[in-house]
Amino acid sequence: MIHPHSIQQILDTVPIDDLVGDYVKLKRSGSRFKGNCPFHDEKTPSFVVTPSLNIYKCFGCQKGGNSIQFLMEMEQMTFVEAARDLAKRYGITLMESEGPKGEEAMEQQRQKESLQALNEFALTFFESQLHNTEEGQTVALPYFKERGYTTETIKEWRLGYSPQSWEAFYNHAKKAGYSDELLLNAGLIKKRDSDGKIYDLFRNRVIFPLVSVSGRVVGFAGRIMGKVDKAPKYVNSPETSLYKKSDFLFATDKAKNAIRAEDYSLLMEGYTDVMTLHQAGIKNAVASSGTALTPGQIKLIKRFSENATAVYDGDKAGIKASLRGVDLLLEGGLNVRVVTMPEGEDPDSYCKQLGPEGFKEFLKNNEQNFIVFKANMLFEEAGSDPIKRSEALRDILQSISLINDGLKRDALLQELESISQTEVDLLRTEVSKILHKKTRTQERKVLREVDNLISDASKLANKGSSIVEYALNDKHQEKAILEFVLKFGGMEFDEDNRIIDFVVEEFEQDQVIKFKDPTYAKIMDRLMEIHSERPEWVTIKELIADPTVEISSFAANILSEEHELSKAFEKNMISVTTRSENYKNEIYDLFLHLRRTKIEELIIEHQKMLGDEEYDETEVLDFLNELIRKKSEIASKIGAVVTRI
Ligand code: UTP
Ligand code: MN
Repeated sequence: MIHPHSIQQILDTVPIDDLVGDYVKLKRSGSRFKGNCPFHDEKTPSFVVTPSLNIYKCFGCQKGGNSIQFLMEMEQMTFVEAARDLAKRYGITLMESEGPKGEEAMEQQRQKESLQALNEFALTFFESQLHNTEEGQTVALPYFKERGYTTETIKEWRLGYSPQSWEAFYNHAKKAGYSDELLLNAGLIKKRDSDGKIYDLFRNRVIFPLVSVSGRVVGFAGRIMGKVDKAPKYVNSPETSLYKKSDFLFATDKAKNAIRAEDYSLLMEGYTDVMTLHQAGIKNAVASSGTALTPGQIKLIKRFSENATAVYDGDKAGIKASLRGVDLLLEGGLNVRVVTMPEGEDPDSYCKQLGPEGFKEFLKNNEQNFIVFKANMLFEEAGSDPIKRSEALRDILQSISLINDGLKRDALLQELESISQTEVDLLRTEVSKILHKKTRTQERKVLREVDNLISDASKLANKGSSIVEYALNDKHQEKAILEFVLKFGGMEFDEDNRIIDFVVEEFEQDQVIKFKDPTYAKIMDRLMEIHSERPEWVTIKELIADPTVEISSFAANILSEEHELSKAFEKNMISVTTRSENYKNEIYDLFLHLRRTKIEELIIEHQKMLGDEEYDETEVLDFLNELIRKKSEIASKIGAVVTRI
């Protein structure tokens, strides 16, 4: 861990205009500098550097931050790498602390860094084998050229070649001093069980590097060049601490800006499809590596746009397998459209056939709403078999019920009427049954959680504490929780958990607990991401250097009020007492308040249902009564924990 003091020192001493000036031609404009943004293509400069604040900001692509963030983004470094690099460049001596937990984290970090270095080393080898050896030039390069990839594309995607040899790479890596252990760990070599003999994983294959969203080489895919019958078409790196197949999408690093700009992504199956599209100027394409989409991949793609078009190869078997993935997309809150390539074509072949404009046109004219697509497909398959038809119908209605927007749902039901030859009114009734059942289950779960919380809170109340009253207002509560996490996240909550563990669990376990305010929700998402990424909790000062702008500015605000509570926080609390002793109770209390707010919202929602014929009035009333009882229980617990002054 780099000491927060050193981070601050870097942020204070590195002249941002000097650092940025190494990469961007800057022109003075008053007290600031302007230049062409290095993070996106532009002709008129919208990238501004402000030395007095030591920050940069692009008004085109919205990227902005401090010197550490700049280097992270520019050189694809981690936070620690960027900080160390800056310290070296500007002669700052870093204080690095190593607690017992820090030690473990450092070790993990070191491991990742050595894997990273090894992957980079391996890729350089594969690239050099492709370009600088006779074998590469006569066997592999023509393969890529025949597939239509230009020299530029081959260089840009850093394609490579692994020679026809059992140990060419192994020997090369040995000579450079890499240990067997690390090489095995990276999956670049394998050990034969029978006699312990070591051999290369990639042999006589063209190499596609698997690159993470931030531009790091995390693994490789090797494609056979000849016939596919004897060996598998692709050999892929195994999972490592850098490469999790289920969280990986091929080409997100190259596609992310285009996805943001065009506000949709194209999801396809193969590496070669994506490369062909990018070469043709369609740069918002990524690949799922042939498998059905996973929740991790959906989360990744959703960072850049909520709209996705899934492009399927023109073979029916493949399409069916992928439909499952699309249900996941819907649940993940993505708007999904679907396009199928004509029989026997994949995006690679078809884009070459139609050309970029023709291909885009084809996508535009043929994309369908996912559910309509799925319905057509399932009913076509079911033919006139009544059992299969009713199964298909149930499946589709289930998908439709995943859509939150009632108007969209109804529009789809109307389309489904003719596809399924079932009266739309009947379809409506069925969907409202599914929805009703779903809310009931969800609500029951909420009530159980509330019960648990109340009993926990009463235990705490018995210990006696002096806590505080907050405004009944989502936004303030959300802010209060965030502030709390930033300040106390790493502190102990109980024997096994820190505050941050407790908070993350609250969010993960209970559907009621979610933030409404979009900025706060984004910050919370990022905190949860950090929580899943690293064992030790971050300091506020580290968060100032976080690439998510919302979080760095939130952290900066808190830091600037380091010793007093923020105004909003204070305003909403009657008193702040011996905070350091009370923090465990406080976080409980914060969630108790948030739950009360959410229950109140549920009550209002259900009161509205009372006049609606779609719902069973007695059931709604029963549930309302239950909610109101819970609410007063929570209120009384809050009262018990609170000591008003
Ligand atoms: P495809 O068979 O469509 O391959 O598999 P492709 O990428 O289009 O390759 P070409 O055009 O035939 O050369 C789609 C994806 O499934 C994964 C790869 O990620 C591939 O890009 N796959 C396929 C494997 O991992 N292993 C295999 O043996 C086959
Ligand atoms: Mn293909």
